[in-house]
Amino acid sequence: MSRLVIVSNRVPVPDKGGVAPAGGLAVALKVALEEHGGIWMGWSGTSSGKHEPAPLAHLQQGNVTYALTDLTDTDVEEYYHGFANRVLWPICHYRLDLAEYGRKEMAGYFRVNRFFAHRLAPLVKPDDVLWVHDYHLIPLAAELRQMGLKNRIGFFLHIPWPPADVLFTMPVHEEIMRGLSHYDVVGFQTDHDLENFASCLRREGIGDEIGGGRFSAYGRVFRGGVYAIGIETAAFAEFAQKASTNSTVKKARESIEHRSLIIGVDRLDYSKGITQRIDAFERFVLDNPAYRGRVTYLQITPKSRSEVPEYEAMQRTVAEQAGRVNGALGAVDWVPIRYITRSVGRRILAGLYRLGKVGLVTPLRDGMNLVAKEYVAAQDPDDPGVLVLSRFAGAARELRGALLVNPYDIEGTANAMARALSMPLEERKERWQLMMDHLLEHDVSRWCRNFLNDLTA
Ligand code: UDP
Ligand code: G6P
Repeated sequence: MSRLVIVSNRVPVPDKGGVAPAGGLAVALKVALEEHGGIWMGWSGTSSGKHEPAPLAHLQQGNVTYALTDLTDTDVEEYYHGFANRVLWPICHYRLDLAEYGRKEMAGYFRVNRFFAHRLAPLVKPDDVLWVHDYHLIPLAAELRQMGLKNRIGFFLHIPWPPADVLFTMPVHEEIMRGLSHYDVVGFQTDHDLENFASCLRREGIGDEIGGGRFSAYGRVFRGGVYAIGIETAAFAEFAQKASTNSTVKKARESIEHRSLIIGVDRLDYSKGITQRIDAFERFVLDNPAYRGRVTYLQITPKSRSEVPEYEAMQRTVAEQAGRVNGALGAVDWVPIRYITRSVGRRILAGLYRLGKVGLVTPLRDGMNLVAKEYVAAQDPDDPGVLVLSRFAGAARELRGALLVNPYDIEGTANAMARALSMPLEERKERWQLMMDHLLEHDVSRWCRNFLNDLTA
């Protein structure tokens, strides 16, 4: 097969503490690329200050060559914080109220995409296959085409694609849609996202489906498809089994004592529904006094995008909320919520998921949500926990054995926690098996194969 070149903003280069950054994209792509070998180009995560970034840094790890570029302070501010995370992210997560448009940021976004194209093009050989990931780099193919590249180029969007009325509030939505038409394959997480995309094209009168999964728009024809991202299910299940001897996992198990563990794991992001979830936990304890002192809710929430004001504000809100609930409900020998804002390594996470009688995954909107899948994969087949899952996560379309909730419905989510904690073993096993069978079959390797087959067809 031809050489694979992956491009994404975030690249899982371990930080100084040796921990790779949290986030579904980096986790999934690492597994996918290690299977194939190839090049992974992206941002180093570092700023070059006011100076022009140095040439690409190359880093070889096994069969993967990382090609990393720094960005200037202005680039980071305008492209990453400004447009990607204060316009595209909120819009794609249906949060019009949080989008902050600015011409400078929009210009920065397109400028950095051009810069990426100029750094990438010299690395590309004529028969390389390029696979671009996520909302930071939508205009990349258009820039590469303008430089004369004829390679197959695919794009996968890890986050949701919003309905037309939401997207059209964004001043440059037209350029964003045009950007996608320069790819050969455009992939989405769910059929819902693909439908939204198709209806955006139709509503603007710029294109439509022409059969066989193909679209015609802006004078180009490309494939639009659904490729639900998976995890490395079998390997993750093995991590979880082996993690029981890990000292951190052991400490966690001992400290929980006789209590039932409810676990939540999310980047600190407003899309994850963390404040609603804490409200629901409080409601659950108030409504079910028998569980006072008998349940521990562990919420692992690494800080994310702290320079973006909405994220910074959220750090305070959630910390205060967890403190308030602990103060109101706790007892001298019971801390109801254990709230951690550091990133936890994946092997330890696997062990902690397995300790959880309930996995709480309640985003207000999520492209897929790999935590939901990891929680299922980590369970003990003889005594599995119960997944409580938001109907607004992409994963809800696949994980039929979960208890589905509407995260805006605080009482409904609280009731689901009670139901999960009292669910009989037989029902837990049945629900878990249904999900595990699905995850074993639809793992990350299959996701990668399906996309690349379509891209190279
Ligand atoms: N993750 C991690 N350490 C943490 C928290 C999360 O490694 O402390 C990983 C988690 O295992 C999962 C990913 O980050 O693979 C989060 O992906 P998900 O799709 O759930 O959400 P995203 O962060 O991409 O929005
Ligand atoms: C989500 C996005 C990814 C992103 C990750 C972490 O998973 O889809 O593109 O890498 O969040 O966010 P960050 O801003 O730290 O890269």
